[in-house]
Amino acid sequence: MEINEIEHHAQAEHTAADGLACFAVVVPGLEKIAAAELNTLAVHAVQVVEGGVNFTGSMDALCRINLRARSITRVLVRLAGFKALSFPELFNKAQKPAWERYISAGRAVTVKASCHSSKLMHSGRVEQAVLDGIAEKLNKADISLGDSGDAQLITVRLEHDQCVISIDSSGERLDRRGYRLLTGLAPIRETVAAAMLQWMDWKPEEPLLVPMCGSGTFAIEAALIGQGRAANLAHDFALLHWPALHQKRWKRVQDKAAGMQRDLSLNILASDSDEAVLGQAVSNAAQAGVADVIRFDRQDVRALQPPKGSQGGVIVCNPPYGDRIRGDATVLYRDIGKLLKQDAFKGWRMAIIVPDPECEKALGLAAKRRMKIKHGGKWVRVLHLRRV
Ligand SMILES: C[S@@+](CC[C@H](N)C(=O)[O-])C[C@H]1O[C@@H](n2cnc3c(N)ncnc32)[C@H](O)[C@@H]1O
Repeated sequence: MEINEIEHHAQAEHTAADGLACFAVVVPGLEKIAAAELNTLAVHAVQVVEGGVNFTGSMDALCRINLRARSITRVLVRLAGFKALSFPELFNKAQKPAWERYISAGRAVTVKASCHSSKLMHSGRVEQAVLDGIAEKLNKADISLGDSGDAQLITVRLEHDQCVISIDSSGERLDRRGYRLLTGLAPIRETVAAAMLQWMDWKPEEPLLVPMCGSGTFAIEAALIGQGRAANLAHDFALLHWPALHQKRWKRVQDKAAGMQRDLSLNILASDSDEAVLGQAVSNAAQAGVADVIRFDRQDVRALQPPKGSQGGVIVCNPPYGDRIRGDATVLYRDIGKLLKQDAFKGWRMAIIVPDPECEKALGLAAKRRMKIKHGGKWVRVLHLRRV
């Protein structure tokens, strides 16, 4: 987990009358999309904050979100909130949560802290005090300090001496769906690709064109959405190791998600000018189990045409820019703008990632809407263009 992902811990109360108090970590810029998605997954008190979304929900909802949410990076559950002015105080109060409900015997635990404007500012010592508190509460022999990816993550945020302790329910980041074994340069996070499709309100009945598809992320995410497949069916969620989770409950949520799959034929065309990259996209789609519902073509974006007989649809693209392109990126953006201006694309809408105002200007089209997201460590804009 990146430290900035725990920077934005919500300040809300750690207990909630109607369920667990949760915080969904998202890629900065995707907060509103994630909130909309959470609302469809039966949670309450949804509140957008920078870098994430606060909400309350039942254990079933927590399972459902981990399994099915497409735009969320991970979900933390807030277990305790208190004032801490000294390390002994922190050690004592860190014993408050019912750790035995979340940490099974022998489980490795890793604690990550961020400290702001507080008396306790040494994050390493804060982490150790909380870890010692947990070990004290459980049987000392029952936990070990783990740095490996599969250790149970506990996050601690100290701000103005107020300490919030949370437990991660997701394990590995949820954008790591597991299908992308091969990638070219600068692949887009799966959560960002899915969120862009949601933002464009792409419907599975509509044609989708993905020129410059790279490792195939947009096309694969669209195929998963179109076929009603849960985003993370094969994920090893941290919550699956919690003693508090009833396996029957998990199975019920899992069965319900599996039951939502449908064999819908889709009109998704992914293309790239690079043969080797296209091969990677095909392999990734096969890994995701959707290779048969996506058409892959080797093609320059400038030759893109809508499928015959279509009356409109959606194009999503993440063109190369910055270090990834030799020469002037604005030339490519200008050509993409020209493409969309063709009569053949009447009724189509496009989502395109734009790194700077020069590239946006080169498109020569006014954006209907725009959103700012953090992609590859940089703020970029996503534009919604349409050809009327
Ligand atoms: C930034 S990558 C796209 C990454 C992709 N979204 C992913 O998740 O892997 C840009 C892609 O555009 C392709 N490309 C560059 N110029 C192109 C062109 N003129 N026509 C078609 N594809 C092109 C590159 O081969 C590369 O795969």
